[in-house]
Amino acid sequence: MRGEILQMLREEPGSYVSGEEVSRRLAVSRTAIWKHIRALKQDGYDIEAHPRLGYRLCRAPDLLLPAEIEARLTTRRLGRAVAYFRRLESTNNEAKALAAAGCPEGQIVVAEEQSVGRGRLARGWFSPFARGVWFSIVLRPPFNPQDAPKCTLLAAVAVCRAIRRAAGVDCGIKWPNDILFDGKKLVGILTEMSAEMDAINHIVIGIGINVNIGADDFPPELRSLATSLSIAAGRPLSRLDILLAALEELEQVYGQTLDQGFAPVLDEWRRGSLTLGRAVDVIGSGRRFSGVAVDIDADGALLVRTDTGTERVLAGDVSI
Ligand code: BTN
Repeated sequence: MRGEILQMLREEPGSYVSGEEVSRRLAVSRTAIWKHIRALKQDGYDIEAHPRLGYRLCRAPDLLLPAEIEARLTTRRLGRAVAYFRRLESTNNEAKALAAAGCPEGQIVVAEEQSVGRGRLARGWFSPFARGVWFSIVLRPPFNPQDAPKCTLLAAVAVCRAIRRAAGVDCGIKWPNDILFDGKKLVGILTEMSAEMDAINHIVIGIGINVNIGADDFPPELRSLATSLSIAAGRPLSRLDILLAALEELEQVYGQTLDQGFAPVLDEWRRGSLTLGRAVDVIGSGRRFSGVAVDIDADGALLVRTDTGTERVLAGDVSI
């Protein structure tokens, strides 16, 4: 409802829209509209209310509020239920709790800031207030649990598309799912699963996109490793545009995978890969070796040719 009210106010930039018209078009009472306007003001919207003329939107806060998402989202299922937090330990933790409690597929958890943002391999994830898109999505795919790692590749392909489209930034993917620009990390993806032996209960895909973070805003230990879309594009970007594009592309790629299997995703991953054809160092599962990354197989494992043969890498850290 709040999304629809915002949409109406935005149809008439700078002008008043009468309370009567809003209430007629949305088929709710004028008192209900007034309560929604009051809630929007509490969220930081500057809305002028004039007794005769109606409501006028003067300024919207730069936040990923559910009403903003609702007003512009074009997906059918992904992102239709939004749990929004100004500050949260980790969106993945909250999404896992919602998933275990039976939330619908496509539920997202969005936070402006994470106090304990989590990365792969038990690392942290720098998630400052209103500077990035920090969100998690709950999927309930009818795949085998062994297929779960490929959902990570699916997410990387979708987010890469979204970044190219919404930010015009030519990014690439480092195995399995880091999105890089200029050799530095723009996006991290953390996939977690709950499953039985033969069926997935749910998958939580947590996505962190560095959007408007200046080079000096990163902690010193990250400065040589991390970058942001605003650095890459040379201008600030709308976090909402990036989130909406990510949800739209995720829905498209997920739908395609449900219909056609993982082959198209794996092909697109190969085309966007920064890892294939490169010399790599692999650390993981108690092993450490070097070689050349030659391909990914049908399970999404990285195939690395070494002096002694071809190694299959399903988990771990690969540096290029
Ligand atoms: C990595 O590259 O190590 C993965 C980073 C994943 C970060 C995102 S931000 C949203 C979601 N919540 C978390 O705690 N982590 C993921």
